[in-house]
Amino acid sequence: MIRDLWYKNAVIYNLSLSTFMDANGDGIGDFQGLLRRLDYLHGLGVTCLWLGPFQTSPLKDDGYDVADYYNVDPRYGTLGDFVEFTHACEQRGIRVIIDLVINHTSDQHPWFKAARSDPDSKYRDWYVWSDSKPENADQGMVFPGVQKSTWTYDREAKAWYFHRFYKFQPDLNTANPEVHAELLKIMGFWIQLGVAGFRMDAVPFIIAEKGADVTKPKEQFGMLRSFREFVQWRRGDAVLLAEANILPEDDLEYFGVDGDRCHMMFNFQVNQHLFYALATADTGPLAKALEVTKPRPATAQWGTFLRNHDELDLGRLTEEQRQAVFAAFGPDKSMQLYDRGIRRRLAPMLHADRRRIELAYSLMFTLPGTPVIRYGDEIGMGDDLSLPERNCARTPMQWSDEPHGGFTKSDEPDSPVISGGVFGYERINAAIQRRDPESMLNWTERIIRMRKECPEIGWGDFRILKTGRPEVLALRYDWRNNGLVVLHNLSDKPCEIVLDVDGHGETCRLVNLLSEDHSEPDAEGRHRLVMEAYGYRWFRVGGLDYLLRRTEANGKPGENV
Ligand code: GLC
Ligand code: CA
Repeated sequence: MIRDLWYKNAVIYNLSLSTFMDANGDGIGDFQGLLRRLDYLHGLGVTCLWLGPFQTSPLKDDGYDVADYYNVDPRYGTLGDFVEFTHACEQRGIRVIIDLVINHTSDQHPWFKAARSDPDSKYRDWYVWSDSKPENADQGMVFPGVQKSTWTYDREAKAWYFHRFYKFQPDLNTANPEVHAELLKIMGFWIQLGVAGFRMDAVPFIIAEKGADVTKPKEQFGMLRSFREFVQWRRGDAVLLAEANILPEDDLEYFGVDGDRCHMMFNFQVNQHLFYALATADTGPLAKALEVTKPRPATAQWGTFLRNHDELDLGRLTEEQRQAVFAAFGPDKSMQLYDRGIRRRLAPMLHADRRRIELAYSLMFTLPGTPVIRYGDEIGMGDDLSLPERNCARTPMQWSDEPHGGFTKSDEPDSPVISGGVFGYERINAAIQRRDPESMLNWTERIIRMRKECPEIGWGDFRILKTGRPEVLALRYDWRNNGLVVLHNLSDKPCEIVLDVDGHGETCRLVNLLSEDHSEPDAEGRHRLVMEAYGYRWFRVGGLDYLLRRTEANGKPGENV
């Protein structure tokens, strides 16, 4: 049924239309602008774009409040522009996935308007109502501190409606078969216009039972299978990439034991422990997070990431671990959000320290899964903490040192471009960095190129190797008779490690893929390596003849694995 597992070894780039490139000069990014920047993205080497929501919306939650699923918001362009865009991506071999926000609609969606104004409307039951205030109305908010409740009284409807998120985002009654059919229709529509899948927003909430009397909502996992079947029937290489910040013990429920539910999920477990490791130089909990998220069907894949458009959610760490990350990366209350996370971008969190930024990216790119990077991080963009909530990390892309960072010709960009200081567009922009071979942009381009040449990471099995030092994480990947060893020193001090890369009694040279610093084994087959502060190494086991040695099947030649 699956035609292509491209997502096992892709590089995904996340961007939002509104802040990428404004071609028509109204201060808001648009499809024309994005089209003009496609060659930039192609040159960077990313193989898949993930677009944040761009459908018609009042834009009260950056488009995660959809008022018409079958249209492009006029501020971004037209459906015609969208198809031009997917076509141009196809020409460049870039796949497009889009956000699918179906847990809720905007309260301005005609379905909700009909539902609230007429109890007999067929749309009434498309949402979740209660005649009286439910007992748990003040529980389960996703945005604590900003959102007051999960049920709001609607005067027009004379009833309470359920909203897991902000009150202008009424939850759809996803258990209603008519709603379910409509959701499939929405997916079919965008697939027909050229998308290769969906980043499914808020999956645990979509599949949760909803209602005033529901105290412990159960997940309806069958829904995931029906979404999966549908997208795959329509397009064999289409994927579902789920946003599901869940516990590892539930991973297989979301992937499906037989790999028949979500193709991909963001690895929130690893993400949070990765930041803990960056904060404390203790890689123990990260190693554990890698082990507990290891079991997955062969066709399933993790999406690995550092930062995204939301806050860095630290809710899965222990209180002590969370405080350690806050202390290192978000000590100020203004940097924290929703009692659980940090709202900053990566570069300011790491104090613009190039060594640490490279370390963080190198590590993320070599963790088991498919890397997902966020626009602007390739040039080390900063944040604007004067903007509310998550908007601080959603400022326009900084293209050049021209007015407004070359993002717009308008005098009034919808969201202000960061200007002045360490992260201002005058200093941090793509044009300057393109001319500098040592820039972050060119480093990112090179690391993406190398990552694509290491399909072992996307496809292979991994083992954590002993380094004897908690600050150094060593991973070994094996795939089709090839091995790869990656090392990361998360500490600000250099150290020496002794490494046994194997276990199979192989004694071989380690060839450094990023510099001339190769490593020869000692008589016992071990490697003695000095890692500098925040150092990282990507080694091939054996030699650079690995492509000649690569077998068509997994395992040793002759072995039928
Ligand atoms: C997801 C999105 C977030 C949005 C929310 C409501 O968590 O990532 O940006 O606000 O869903 O749709
Ligand atoms: Ca525009």
